[in-house]
Amino acid sequence: MAGNVALELRNISKSFPGVKALDNVSFTVNEGEVHVLVGENGAGKSTLIKIINGMYTADEGEMYLFGEKITTHNPRYMKQKGVATIHQELNPVPDLTVAENIFLGRLPVNKFKKVDKKYMVREAQRLINELGFKYDANAIMRSLTVSDMQIIEIIKAISVNAKVIIMDEPTSSITEAEVAVLHEQIHRLKAMGISIIYISHKLDELKKVGDRLTILRDGQTISSHNIDDLTQDEIIAKMVGRKMDNIYPEKTAKVGEKLFEVKGLTSNKFHDVSFTLHKGEILGMSGLVGAGRTETARAIFGLDPYKSGEIILNGKQVKVKKVRDAINEGIIYLSEDRKLEGLVLIRSICENIGLPNLKRYSGFLLNKRKERKDAEEMREKLRIKTPNVDFPAQNLSGGNQQKVVIAKWLLQDPKVFIMDEPTRGIDVGAKYEIYKIMCDLAERGAGVIMISSELPEIIGVCDRTLVMAEGRVTGEVMREEFSQERIMSFALGGDLANG
Ligand SMILES: Nc1ncnc2c1ncn2[C@@H]1O[C@H](COP(=O)(O)OP(=O)(O)OP(=O)(O)O)[C@@H](O)[C@H]1O
Ligand SMILES: [Mg+2]
Repeated sequence: MAGNVALELRNISKSFPGVKALDNVSFTVNEGEVHVLVGENGAGKSTLIKIINGMYTADEGEMYLFGEKITTHNPRYMKQKGVATIHQELNPVPDLTVAENIFLGRLPVNKFKKVDKKYMVREAQRLINELGFKYDANAIMRSLTVSDMQIIEIIKAISVNAKVIIMDEPTSSITEAEVAVLHEQIHRLKAMGISIIYISHKLDELKKVGDRLTILRDGQTISSHNIDDLTQDEIIAKMVGRKMDNIYPEKTAKVGEKLFEVKGLTSNKFHDVSFTLHKGEILGMSGLVGAGRTETARAIFGLDPYKSGEIILNGKQVKVKKVRDAINEGIIYLSEDRKLEGLVLIRSICENIGLPNLKRYSGFLLNKRKERKDAEEMREKLRIKTPNVDFPAQNLSGGNQQKVVIAKWLLQDPKVFIMDEPTRGIDVGAKYEIYKIMCDLAERGAGVIMISSELPEIIGVCDRTLVMAEGRVTGEVMREEFSQERIMSFALGGDLANG
């Protein structure tokens, strides 16, 4: 069975106003293989999969599924044909239950033409258990974390008996343990002859999960390979179109005097969190997803209340009751949830970047020209792929949307900059630029906190890292002592470390 062609695309092109997203792309996926699709932000990956799943119609080119030419282009039809998609931006319905989300679009009905809730819940629970998860089918989706929602999407795709499953950055916000579970499921699907198209910016996982690989650049297919035929460096070079000597920039700033201190910060989500941050320092915050890092950062930034504890900046206690207070003090938080909290999607890049910075442009008139100049500069620096800065944010690729959010906060010239998973979904070249910006901020005397679940980047750029588990700080590791094992042991051993 394996080796037969499942899906074939021939000479596909697709344009949007001002953008040629795909340019003569050809792409073949065999039965029972995991085909990895890589490319920089804006290379055309999501557009390609939306053509495969019927959301878009190609301007030119042909598509074949198990040898049959596809002439009907809509999502429902492609679903019937066995193509399932787990999108980059998840679209769960938060007020429905887990079971309802799994059965969304095909709710089972009883003989009275009413939704058969009992059956649905029973089936959903059976599926969840069978796959080895512990979710309650009756739980409300809203109560789950982003990572849990992602797993539910995966369960849903598996449940519709798909023959081709497309996964657009499925591991961007799930824990190591969940990644392992996902990869295990993928191996199982493969053994059943199901094909997987797998998009990821995490280069170190590609070789673990992939059989073959196709590289896209600027909307064109550069080449396809057996995954073992290329080294990681070769993959990067083909992706970015140049040789990248380093993945991490060299940090020149020295760690200086104490800048910022958090003492005994406590809420119902975290307990007695204390740490210091110095001028010129990049401090990591490691831990598993759900360890309480985001909650702590949100409280420091005034997004959530805290019960007790102190926040001290430059030796002075600061009262942060709302976000405005934090911003006025020069404390900035870049949220991990950039879709919900970061962007006004219908507004342009320029407006989005200007939005939190109105003070910077006020005077008698909002200084439009300065706003534009800043936006242009950020576009260049972060390599935001767009025809111009008046382009609406919603038309940018996922990774490029994130760059816009990062850009708007960078203009605040923060003293303390807390970045929550700043490189999630960002391509390798732009990751470098983001680390570089962190180093530059440190050089200017700011303190940077990077919350990250990616140990390689913590080790790559931080001077020191805190480790949290179950709402508490469980460890601290200095750069000289960095190792994945050491950091992980604190991340896992929350209880041990607390005695
Ligand atoms: N609806 C749209 N209107 C206009 N341009 C679009 C639209 N959707 C995508 N584009 C453009 O098409 C190009 C390819 O975008 P796509 O989302 O396919 O990239 P990607 O490879 O998935 O990137 P990422 O890694 O950031 O998710 C980008 O330049 C993007 O701005
Ligand atoms: Mg994408």
